[in-house]
Amino acid sequence: MSFRIQPAAPARPNRCQLFGPGSRPAIFEKMAASASDVINLDLEDSVAPSDKDSARANIIAAIADVDWGNKTLSVRINGLDTPYWYRDVVDLLEQAGDRLDQIMIPKVGCAGDIYAVDALVTAVEAAKGRRKKISFEVIIESAAGIAHVEEIAASSPRLQAMSLGAADFAASMGMQTTGIGGTQENYYMHREGQKYWSDPWHWAQAAIVAACRTHGVLPVDGPFGDFSDDEGFRAQARRSATLGMVGKWAIHPKQVAIANDVFTPSEEAVSEAREILAAMEEAKAKGEGATVYKGRLVDIASIKQAEVIVRQSEMING
Ligand code: COA
Ligand code: MG
Repeated sequence: MSFRIQPAAPARPNRCQLFGPGSRPAIFEKMAASASDVINLDLEDSVAPSDKDSARANIIAAIADVDWGNKTLSVRINGLDTPYWYRDVVDLLEQAGDRLDQIMIPKVGCAGDIYAVDALVTAVEAAKGRRKKISFEVIIESAAGIAHVEEIAASSPRLQAMSLGAADFAASMGMQTTGIGGTQENYYMHREGQKYWSDPWHWAQAAIVAACRTHGVLPVDGPFGDFSDDEGFRAQARRSATLGMVGKWAIHPKQVAIANDVFTPSEEAVSEAREILAAMEEAKAKGEGATVYKGRLVDIASIKQAEVIVRQSEMING
């Protein structure tokens, strides 16, 4: 390890973030009753410009009126390139009750974007005497966002989570795609008459995970638009989990159970991790730093890998 110790990310479950438009209050109770760890009420791109004011009012009322249980409650504000975002922040911070946990800032391009929102939030919190400090989450969904991903991850102690937003990201990058995330028809290797699809989101995900882990932020995979394709969603979620992400968005309630399943370490994975830890305890007692588990090498690094799985499972269960 470097002299500088890697900070821990917030110890709260973030396996699924269920989204719903602020202009559709009829679904708020259903969102609250879902099994999603995080709820994202949206003021941004699922709300038409003519509905921004009423969506804000719907959300402020629902923050107080709906029983959100122990979920993390987050509101996605509009981007800093719009005329809406300051009103989103001011109205939420002045009028919404203390149940609001988090603000999601979309389309961030540099640390200065977070600084601007932090300055406004801090001033309204002080003016209103709000006891609970609002936390932030951001979406990396532009060329600038991914180019400046590390300074964004380091930008504010309020920052808890960072998601990849595949659709806006693809547009900003000039990618020739139309689907929201998942396999892309034209992104393949070819050999001996066979096509092998690879993953165009992989590098951006890995960059986000590295920036997040460096600065103690939760890395999250964003939306998967084709909600009729459960196995496509599951495959995308498994790739994200394998790379170190802790959860994925749901843009339809049927995606929640799949995300929870994928991002909860399985019983088999947890018992194998515990067996590795036990094997290494035994090795340590004999003064050895490495041993053999099921025919393969395990050593002191294996302890850290196994602990990731055990800790994640204990945090989710406890
Ligand atoms: N959260 C909770 N419940 C939801 C829901 C959501 N996001 N979306 C739909 N439902 C409910 C419906 O009300 C319906 O309930 P019912 O069985 O009691 O009638 C049930 O789930 C099935 O809904 P369905 O008819 O399949 O979907 P729809 O046509 O009503 O809505 C979408 C589909 C995609 C428009 C809708 O899910 C949605 O708005 N998703 C979120 C979009 C969003 O926030 N995007 C921004 C982030 S990318
Ligand atoms: Mg977006």
